[in-house]
Order: sequence, then structure tokens, then C-alpha cells
Amino acid sequence: MVDPRTQGTSLYFNRRDFIRTAAVAGAGLMVTVPGWAQEQAPASQPENELRIAMIGPGSQGRNLLTQCLKIPNIRFTAICDIWPYHQDYAANILKKYDMPVKVYADYNELLAGEKDLDAVIVATPDWVHAEHAIACLKAGKHVYCEKEMSNTLEGGRAMVKAARETGKLLQIGHQRRSNPRYWHALKMIRNDKILGRVTHFNSQWNRSRRFDLGWPEGKELDPATLKKYGYETMDQFRNWRWYKKFSGGPMADLGSHQMDVYNWFLDTPPAAVLAAGGLDNYEDREWYDNVMAIYEYKVGGKMVRGFYQVLNTTSFNGFFEAFMGDEGSLVISEDTRKGFVFREQEAKKREWEDEASKVEAMGKDAIELKIGETLRPDGTKDPEGQQLLEESKKPPHQLHLENFFSAIRNKTPLSCPPEVAYETAVTVLKANDAVAAGKRIEFKPDEFKV
Ligand SMILES: NC(=O)c1ccc[n+]([C@@H]2O[C@H](COP(=O)([O-])OP(=O)(O)OC[C@H]3O[C@@H](n4cnc5c(N)ncnc54)[C@H](O)[C@@H]3O)[C@@H](O)[C@H]2O)c1
Repeated sequence: MVDPRTQGTSLYFNRRDFIRTAAVAGAGLMVTVPGWAQEQAPASQPENELRIAMIGPGSQGRNLLTQCLKIPNIRFTAICDIWPYHQDYAANILKKYDMPVKVYADYNELLAGEKDLDAVIVATPDWVHAEHAIACLKAGKHVYCEKEMSNTLEGGRAMVKAARETGKLLQIGHQRRSNPRYWHALKMIRNDKILGRVTHFNSQWNRSRRFDLGWPEGKELDPATLKKYGYETMDQFRNWRWYKKFSGGPMADLGSHQMDVYNWFLDTPPAAVLAAGGLDNYEDREWYDNVMAIYEYKVGGKMVRGFYQVLNTTSFNGFFEAFMGDEGSLVISEDTRKGFVFREQEAKKREWEDEASKVEAMGKDAIELKIGETLRPDGTKDPEGQQLLEESKKPPHQLHLENFFSAIRNKTPLSCPPEVAYETAVTVLKANDAVAAGKRIEFKPDEFKV
């Protein structure tokens, strides 16, 4: 887990590096930042305590659990997991924080036994998200469910409908949508038009070879329990991402985070996708280990074409999203070390460019993407920039959870409601169809709607 408080100090306000982005300040706030902790003032009152449970405190669940412990007035009262090893692990962490919890193996028993829960966090494997999230919504709980919302479009649609029918909140875990660095970048692209017209994008998630996940000796689930919950072997249970029954593959697992950013920033889902991929470097797995996709978007009647790839054999250049326009390019990543703007030589120089903090990145001179340095025309600090700066000191998952809790308490908007996540699900799951068919697939606008 990358913690922005220990990395990328360039995010923080530094008087010496203060730059004037009067153009941004003068342009008006067309981008409205989401609700975070600052809007949760009533949270400090005990009567505003939210009682929550988690289904699936595995690797990501424990990350979310740790982030929740930093947020005022959030109390875990129960956890649910089919694996006693993970039950114990999570219950022991919570005990240390004076939160003794009831432990369940089956989510039906959790919902029957915990009537006064306000919300449930679902961090189980993708194939059971729809089942778990819908049951919680129908039991009257708000739900934070990890991405990919579902590995099937039917599952995703059912989740959208359940949220609508129950009137309960459903936040999907595309946490970049609550990340101040991304909001800052969006303001630069959309309000300040720092890139001119965006014409292309390029993005990837490359990572070194994955080793199979194991389990401690003696801690295996017995075959009957595995079978009861849909797994044939411990390998399937632990390495579910590689199996088609349990996961939408690398495009859904990693690509969904990043394609979600393109849908968001370009303010439209794609028009077509062409993709190729294969299981070329791993054995005994079902999903491809590498995939390359070309997406086409129609933005304001003009074509924006972009490339996306996931490689599971090399970490070359890591993971990032790049936007390219006719006046410049912007590179951003959840990895806080990557945040740059490259201006084209021919682009008209902005008044603040000389004062901006420069670095060398990717072999070129770049402007660092820094939050909180925007000045209003009168020379005072732009308050929204200061809010983004303050919030950016927290880890991204904490911010996304705070946005969820703020929506429950203060009725502020969710950063990633199910309709938005469904568009992303269609965007990435259709790329799998393009890989299978070996051809370019066009999206119909209706496909993105439920
Ligand atoms: N937003 C992010 O940055 C991010 C990062 C990593 C993972 N994730 C998502 O988090 C989810 C979990 O991923 P992970 O890596 O933690 O997997 P994991 O296998 O480590 O954890 C899954 C947990 O669910 C439990 N489980 C499985 N089936 C269950 C069932 N039917 N009922 C109750 N518990 C069950 C497992 O025992 C395990 O504890 C996935 O949806 C994944 O895509 C999101």
C-alpha cells in the first residue's frame, strides 16, 4: 500500500514553489470536488457513530479495515469470512482497537444477526460481489463494494437496480474518483485546458511475474466448505483472479481502475474497442496474462484514440495514465511519484509556467503536478486548492471510504455510484469480448445504461 504521507512530498504546499495559476482561478470552478472528511464535522458526536461490518477481510479488505480505523466514529461490530484464518486475523486487529466483533462465516447469518448495522463493506472476490452487495442493500444497509463491481454485466445491472429499488447507497471501489490529485489534474485539463484539446491517451499496468498465492500449512479449508462456497480447490480459492468463473481477468482487475479514469475525464464512455491478449507466459491458468487494447472515444464530435495494456511479466514503467493533447501531455498515477505536465513547444506559454516547479521526467523537462499552489487573481490562496492539498495527505482508499461515510451522514454525492461503475464494467468486460473475437467491437450508447 502506497501511503502518500511518506511519498511524493512534492504534493505538499511549499511557499518557495508557489505558482500562479490565475487562469485556473479565473476560469471558475467547472469541476466540483467530492465530499470528504472535512464535511463530516458532526462525526465527532457519538450519536453519529456508524456501525459497520465487512464481508471478506482478505488482502484488500484488511487495507480498507485499516483505513476505516483512521476515520472518526466508525465502529466495526461484525466481520464475515468463510476462511477462519482470515476471520481470526481481522478480529484480532479490531480487538487491538477496542472493537470486539462478532464473527460470521455466512453473510446470511451476518445480516440476520446484526440488525442495527448502518453499512457493510464487501471485499470478497468479484464473482460474489453482486450476491453479497444485493443481499446487504435489501437488508437496508448502505454498501461499499470493491471493484470490479461484478465479473458479469448481469451482476452489475442487478446491483444498479438493487441500489435504486432500496434507495440505499452503493459506492464501488474505484478510489481514484475520490483522489485529490486526480481532481487537481481534471481541473487542469478541463478548466484550464492545459493540454489544449485531448486527442490521445496511453496507459498501462505492468508488473513483474506473479507468484501463486498459497496458504499456511494446516489452515486449508476442508473440501466440503470449499465446495459449498463454489471453489473446487484451495488454489481456486486463493488465486481466484486467474479463473474465468471468479474474475473478469486483468482488464477488469487492473484495467477497470484506469479505464474508469478515461471515462471520467473524457466525460463519456468509449465508442469502440479493439484488443488482443493471450495466456503466453503462465501455465494452468484461464485468463490471458497480457492484453493490449485500443479504445476509441468520440468527444465533442472528435475522435480520441487511446492505448491500454496489462502485462504480468514485466514491471517496465509501472502503472500510470497519460493524456495527450495538442498543447501538452499530463501523466498521473496512484503512485504519487508520477505526476507531470509536459507542454508542447508551440503552445502559448501560460503566465505561471516560468514560476512552476520543474523536474526532468521521462527524459524531458516537465512541470510537476502540484496541488494547492493555485492563487486567486488577488494573490490569495485558492481555498479549493487548499482543501485538495489537505485531503491529498491521506491514502486514496481512506478518501474513498470517507466520501462514502460522508454520503451516509451528510448526503454529499458518492464519487462512484453504481451507474458510473457499470459504465466502467461495460468498458472493460467488452474488451474481453474483443480479445475472444479477435476484432473491433463498437459500443451502442444504450449498453452503458441500466
Ligand atoms: N480498490 C483496490 O485498489 C483494490 C485492490 C486490491 C483488490 N481489490 C478488490 O478487492 C476484492 C478482494 O480482493 P483480495 O485481493 O483482497 O482477495 P482475497 O482473496 O485476499 O480476499 C477475499 C476474501 O474474501 C473471502 N471470501 C471468499 N469467498 C467468500 C464468500 N463467499 N463469503 C465470505 N467471504 C468470502 C476470502 O476468504 C478472503 O478473505 C476484489 O474484488 C478485488 O478486485 C481492490
